[in-house]
Amino acid sequence: PQEPVRTVIIAFGVLGDPEAAWQDPRRTRAMFTVNTTAAASIGALVADALRAQRRGGGPAGRIIAVSSVAAERVRRSNFVYGASKAGMDGFFIGLGQALAPEHIRVLVVRPGFVRSAMTVGRRAGLAVDPDRVAGAVVRALDTDRAVVRVPRIFTPLMAIYRNLPDRIARRLAF
Ligand SMILES: NC(=O)c1ccc[n+]([C@@H]2O[C@H](COP(=O)([O-])OP(=O)(O)OC[C@H]3O[C@@H](n4cnc5c(N)ncnc54)[C@H](OP(=O)(O)O)[C@@H]3O)[C@@H](O)[C@H]2O)c1
Repeated sequence: PQEPVRTVIIAFGVLGDPEAAWQDPRRTRAMFTVNTTAAASIGALVADALRAQRRGGGPAGRIIAVSSVAAERVRRSNFVYGASKAGMDGFFIGLGQALAPEHIRVLVVRPGFVRSAMTVGRRAGLAVDPDRVAGAVVRALDTDRAVVRVPRIFTPLMAIYRNLPDRIARRLAF
């Protein structure tokens, strides 16, 4: 018999060059195709499979979807990436609410800058290694939280940054 599916991690994505991403329409489309369209399509397929498993008497299963703090307030410096992640982030937040009655949980992960293949050659403040993200995800799975930010300092920082007036936010250099 086939092993039940307990956890599905959706962690693919592309970052690309932030200026080429809006100046070259093919790159704009590619960013949204991978980060938004593919993520939501696969999320819907996974949700369908987990619901069928549950209806068949199997375990509820859960989905971990890797978004980004960049999705929380789209910034000029990487707005195509930020907007593409905002689309998938909103989808998975809503999917978690839609699946809650069936006890299928969705955790949306919003890391800041992570040192990975995606960010080779780039630098940013508050950078973390992938194992820090993994540790935060494992801890969040023990709670009922729908969202986890890594590092944790982003929770109060984003509460402020999300509410800054545009005329101030656009002057911040990040
Ligand atoms: N690194 C960061 O600072 C950071 C911060 C916040 C959020 N994130 C998010 O974290 C997730 C993982 O990123 P990462 O840092 O681990 O970057 P990564 O090492 O570049 O991993 C990205 C993954 O996405 C896959 N992928 C990209 N385009 C694909 C396509 N068209 N079809 C199939 N697979 C594709 C890549 O597969 P291949 O290796 O086969 O190309 C790779 O496994 C992404 O969703 C990213 O947006 C990253």
